[in-house]
Amino acid sequence: MTRTTVRTQVAIVGAGPAGLLLSHLLAAEGIDSVVIDSRTRENIEGTVKAGTLEYGTVQLLQDSCATRNTATVAQRHDGIELWFDGDSHRVDFVGLTGKNAYLYPQHEVLIDLIATRLELGQDIRFETTATGISAADGTTPTVTVHGPEGDEYDIVADFLVGADGARSLVRPVVTGSTHGGSFREYPFAWLGILCRAPRSNEELIYSNSPDGFALISQRTDTVQRMYIQCDPDTDPNALSEAELWAQFQRHVPGKQLIEGPIFQRDVLRFRSFVASAMRRGRVAIIGDAAHTVPPTGAKGMNLAIADTVLLSGALRALLNENDSRPLDDFEDRALERIWKSQHFSWWMTSLTHLTPDASDFDRRRQLGELRALFDSESGQRYLADFYVGWPFAML
Ligand code: PHB
Repeated sequence: MTRTTVRTQVAIVGAGPAGLLLSHLLAAEGIDSVVIDSRTRENIEGTVKAGTLEYGTVQLLQDSCATRNTATVAQRHDGIELWFDGDSHRVDFVGLTGKNAYLYPQHEVLIDLIATRLELGQDIRFETTATGISAADGTTPTVTVHGPEGDEYDIVADFLVGADGARSLVRPVVTGSTHGGSFREYPFAWLGILCRAPRSNEELIYSNSPDGFALISQRTDTVQRMYIQCDPDTDPNALSEAELWAQFQRHVPGKQLIEGPIFQRDVLRFRSFVASAMRRGRVAIIGDAAHTVPPTGAKGMNLAIADTVLLSGALRALLNENDSRPLDDFEDRALERIWKSQHFSWWMTSLTHLTPDASDFDRRRQLGELRALFDSESGQRYLADFYVGWPFAML
């Protein structure tokens, strides 16, 4: 018996920022796609993730009309505060680089992107799980899926993209193994909370305190996101709310945090990963499917979008102009930015965290590095350039 098939030019597994934006950029080039995701729309739109976007990422979302609420939802951040050795030190992004970063919660980007794509007629299939991939080495890679009614069918495409996150089904097809790549695990994690309270500070505070790292971030006028360093095996529910607030407060000495009811707690593990390959024939992986960065510096979503911009150019050349050369360059060009971002995320982490076995030497060397950085305008500009991000490479 032959299975039902759906035919499209580009099959995209994963309705996160990378998958949805790719469908948007392809549609602008007249290329049709089908996006599938095993989650419900409500689940995708309701999961609170990262919060900071680079200058160029927000410009791209705006210029490509991928989001309509950018002007109202994206909050401009002209700098950050880095606290160490009992003092606050500001990095003035605008003064140093002429650019700013944005606090723009990922789920808000997704709410907007989904609405925009559906309005423009995009085929997005929620609650649809990829179960297998075939013909990966041919000209029509195929993904077999299970729909919400238990129906099974094939999506046959000219190109298949895995934008399906860290537990990607598509990645092993590209790399030949589940774990193939460069990997680093860190001996600490972040305990994150969401609370109902006004902002404790206008800008983000990265605090390197004697008790460990803290990040005082934000979401909206009434909801705030904060993190403290913890052991990776910490049970996020072990402490009472009062005990948690006392912990957070201790990690930001010299700043009175505004407390409020805590309604979500989670533990974020720290990992760095880059897959050993990002493309095999007419199958590619982008975003978290291809790499993971530790959360310090919030590069994850920005990097996913940079991959997407590159791949969309390569697919335009392949599918509209029958030119495969840009696709041949895709992986090398993507890896340049990925490794720069890997370095930044690792470096911001190493500047602001100590491992549990850190010695007196380690602590004092780290303070020496922070002082050297802040005593030098070019040192501060180095950090600011990374944080606000670089222009996107195009193919
Ligand atoms: C966040 O708000 O989730 C966030 C902000 C900045 C970071 C990391 C995470 O560096």
